[in-house]
Amino acid sequence: MKMTRFDFIIVGSGAGGLSAALHASRYGTVAVVTKRGALDSNSNWAQGGIACVTSDEDSIEQHVQDTLIAGAGLCNEAAVRTIVTEGPERIDELVNWGVHFDQKEAKDGHLEFDLTREGGHSQRRVLHAADATGREISEKLLAAVRAEPNITLLENHFAIDLITTSKLGYVSEDRVLGLYVLRESDDTVVTLRSDRVILATGGSGRVYLYTTNPRVATGDGVAMAWRAGASVANMEFIQFHPTCLYHPERRSFLITEAMRGEGARLVDKEGNEFMHKYDPRGSLAPRDVVARAIDHEIKRTGGPCVYLDISHKPADFVTAHFPTIYKNLLEVDIDITKDPIPVVPAAHYQCGGVQTDINGATRIRGLCAVGEVGCTGLHGANRLASNSLLECVVLSHRAVNHLLRKLPMGREEALPIEVPPWQTGDAEDNDELVVIYHNWDEIRRLMWDYVSIVRTTKRLQRAAARLRNLKREVQEFYWNFRITSELLELRNLVETASLIVECAIRRHESRGLHYTLDYPEKDDTRPPEDQVVRRY
Ligand code: FUM
Repeated sequence: MKMTRFDFIIVGSGAGGLSAALHASRYGTVAVVTKRGALDSNSNWAQGGIACVTSDEDSIEQHVQDTLIAGAGLCNEAAVRTIVTEGPERIDELVNWGVHFDQKEAKDGHLEFDLTREGGHSQRRVLHAADATGREISEKLLAAVRAEPNITLLENHFAIDLITTSKLGYVSEDRVLGLYVLRESDDTVVTLRSDRVILATGGSGRVYLYTTNPRVATGDGVAMAWRAGASVANMEFIQFHPTCLYHPERRSFLITEAMRGEGARLVDKEGNEFMHKYDPRGSLAPRDVVARAIDHEIKRTGGPCVYLDISHKPADFVTAHFPTIYKNLLEVDIDITKDPIPVVPAAHYQCGGVQTDINGATRIRGLCAVGEVGCTGLHGANRLASNSLLECVVLSHRAVNHLLRKLPMGREEALPIEVPPWQTGDAEDNDELVVIYHNWDEIRRLMWDYVSIVRTTKRLQRAAARLRNLKREVQEFYWNFRITSELLELRNLVETASLIVECAIRRHESRGLHYTLDYPEKDDTRPPEDQVVRRY
């Protein structure tokens, strides 16, 4: 079977992956491996925008402080400062790659960014392209990638596992050698060789029954890195977005927080605002607070949802700022210029991930993780809205520079290592697909019921026990049957769910996005290092 060598391999085609590819292509050949189409990514679905200091009324220090406050004492302050400070340069680069952010005329007549606001931000600092910022960024980056001869875009290629020296039995320093990848067009496993691999696979919202994430968000990068021996941290901090549309025909449709930033109010079915009962910041309190308040209101009233109402604003303002949401909801007979929108919280963002330094470097030499898959410490226990796209573009740039410094081009590793091809062995075709779908549903349901907004030790232990059984079953499937993308996703899903539960069980306190009735207070006496789940 074929083995192909690249100077860089990037797994994932969201904002982190595509911007890393463009940067890396200045120095060598790049493969972008993505399991479906190149636009099937979390980034592409991002509505709100990208937080960055671009206005004279704002400052780096204010952005840093807002991020630290949202992070509830668990941010890595040095990482926060670096990412916030390097943001403006990366925004310029996005603009140079063709990304257009909305602008407006300033008082003196020149054009400036039309900044919006989201929960936890003390200033308007969110750059956006109406309510489809992720799509604008993804499409422009993808166009630039397609035009770059040094980049090979491998769509419908599913990364199965990393190849590392330790997996091959070498005892010297652990380093990455490449990947085994399932090429879907002919169901063949190909070997991709590189000493520089960047994971940019996004998050794991699909671990939960209700999520704002696309179908692809199955925790692939975290699971793969974990199996390869990387450290994983902060997985218990899953951010639940307060306002996902509640409608049977549009299950994962996000209603951007920017709508609350522009004055939308959260109300009950009688139209009464309720957020001020929970937090003086009302509807614009940080997401953990708003999601818990909605969860509480839903349980208190027995209703299926609460409502987000922007109908008091002029209709042309609403349609100009939120054209995508307006159009999508009209299709299900909700006119947001007149009707309140039924909403519920849903899993949205994984704040933890593969533990990295500020360059995205993991403990495996040559392997970086950037964006939602990684954990630099920017988000701490709760991510500030719209900081994630910022982290993607800053980290992808830093990761490429780091790899070039550590493994300069033209000086590939001295030790020539033979990478064996993938072995299919006696694996047969799976004639029990129903088991895969059943296990998939069971994981998502149990994570929603036992490991979501409000947790208890008993529920977490119950989830851990069920996941142990499911993992065993999935493992058997993996060894006995010919692999398919469904089976690979299930294998990653169960691994990631187990890591979320393991991290949650270890945290004997409530902080940020982790709230447990058994330990309702914060415990500042524990060092954050205690929370890192390591294989070794
Ligand atoms: O509400 C939103 O548009 C989401 C923004 C974010 O998650 O950063």
